[in-house]
Amino acid sequence: MTMNSLYLGDCLYVLRDNIPDKSVDLVYIDPPFNSKRDYNIFFDDKEIQTQRIAFEDTWSLKNIQDSLTELHTLQTDNLYFLLLTYQKVAPHAFPYLTMMALRILELHRVLKDTGSFYLHCDPTMSHYLKTVCDIIFGEENFRNDIVWERTFGSGSSKSIAKKFPVNTDNLLFYSKSNVYSFHHEFKAYEEATIKRYDKIDENGKRYKWENLKTYSKETLTELIQKGEAKFNPKSKYPVYKSYLDESKGTIISNLWYDLKFIGTKSPERLGYPTQKPKALLERIIKASSNEGDIVLDGFCGCGTALDAAESLNRKWIGIDISPIAISLIKRRLKDTYGKQLSKFEIRGVPTDEASAKKLWEENPFAFQDWWLTEFEVFSTTYGTKGADKGVDGIGQYIADHQGNTLRAAFQVKGGGKVKSSEIDSLLGILEKHKCQLGVFLTIAEPTKPMMETATASGFFEAGGFQYPRIQILTLEEFFAGKRPKLPTENVTFKSAQLKGKKVQQISLEL
Ligand SMILES: C[S@@+](CC[C@H](N)C(=O)[O-])C[C@H]1O[C@@H](n2cnc3c(N)ncnc32)[C@H](O)[C@@H]1O
Repeated sequence: MTMNSLYLGDCLYVLRDNIPDKSVDLVYIDPPFNSKRDYNIFFDDKEIQTQRIAFEDTWSLKNIQDSLTELHTLQTDNLYFLLLTYQKVAPHAFPYLTMMALRILELHRVLKDTGSFYLHCDPTMSHYLKTVCDIIFGEENFRNDIVWERTFGSGSSKSIAKKFPVNTDNLLFYSKSNVYSFHHEFKAYEEATIKRYDKIDENGKRYKWENLKTYSKETLTELIQKGEAKFNPKSKYPVYKSYLDESKGTIISNLWYDLKFIGTKSPERLGYPTQKPKALLERIIKASSNEGDIVLDGFCGCGTALDAAESLNRKWIGIDISPIAISLIKRRLKDTYGKQLSKFEIRGVPTDEASAKKLWEENPFAFQDWWLTEFEVFSTTYGTKGADKGVDGIGQYIADHQGNTLRAAFQVKGGGKVKSSEIDSLLGILEKHKCQLGVFLTIAEPTKPMMETATASGFFEAGGFQYPRIQILTLEEFFAGKRPKLPTENVTFKSAQLKGKKVQQISLEL
């Protein structure tokens, strides 16, 4: 692989179509848990309610049946029998496990023989997933069940009235074989450990006497001559001077309680609900890969693993089924690394009119999300799925030198003819949602009356510029490079933190 890549699509097919066998050093995945809702991209910011169905058909019985049949034909007998058993004894987990099994098989295929795999999940499914992974990777290649304490003392809801609150995620760590890279990490000693270094040598350095368990006669003689070791009458081992400033610290175990969850005020926060802390991914990447290695995240969300890989000089491949995720990652990496960002390609997003129309036919919601995210605006769902009510997207921009903002409402019209009344309704939307500008995106050519209504709506003046109140842009024009006239500083997405520079966060009040 030559270039870092970001793919829009279901990781099952992206992996099958694009990623060769044994080509990746480290796989991390943080898939949605076992609920259909988890497949929706859901921005749960107080002010922004955005929901899009990203992966609608996954759980339909037809798909599960197809997946099972496929597993059977892949001759993964044990996996097949395990899943059939779950169909009987754990029917609630069975569809999820079947879908995951197929994807984990692909992830296993793309891993090099020296590669490692981390599956981020939680106690709802981790025990079932472990049985699936034990079959795919081989029980002997199971390395750790890492427990990450993600929040501290959460919850007082009904659900925990009679049990302990659940504050942990699990990370199942496997290697593909018994030959793989691993680097331990250490953290600073706690105060009690530091106190044990209670002696001070002639140079003022703190040390303690420690048993010397493995040594050669020559080394011991040399150390004794230098005053660095001595025999200990109370022990069978000699002892040596262990210096505080030379020790690595406490080795990190499988219990991770030192990595903070991304809270509402965290500067890292991008508004993606399942965003994981970068420090968590850095720990995994440092432990299980080397500089220049390839890291792959098949459910990459807003790109935490890719960001961590970039900062640690690894190559990366990210896959996500949601256009919003892909757009956020693009923005996140550009904001964080600026000109130093390594080159990367984006695959699977429409690149011309024909591929965009194809996306519309296959998944109108994905099409809508894709087009809106091309303008870096949030898509917003009001009204029910398919009802096409309300506003499809909102963008927010710095309008003048005083930093005042203005808002633009976006409407996306996919198939079918467009009518003049749609422009009237967009004008109503501007009023209702306190937007100054409206952009109507359409596959079909606008009619003459539509154009007239748009023109008649006049202009909005801000910061010495005149912006047409309503602008219409067709898909054809979009691919020809035409863009609506909007203020250049788009502040819709909360920016990732620029290195060393705080970015002002502006909320969207709807
Ligand atoms: C829990 S989130 C990952 C969050 C990520 N670790 C981060 O820090 O931002 C799961 C992601 O999986 C994506 N997803 C769901 N099904 C998928 C599939 N079949 N292929 C690829 N991505 C998928 C969702 O769109 C979502 O972004």
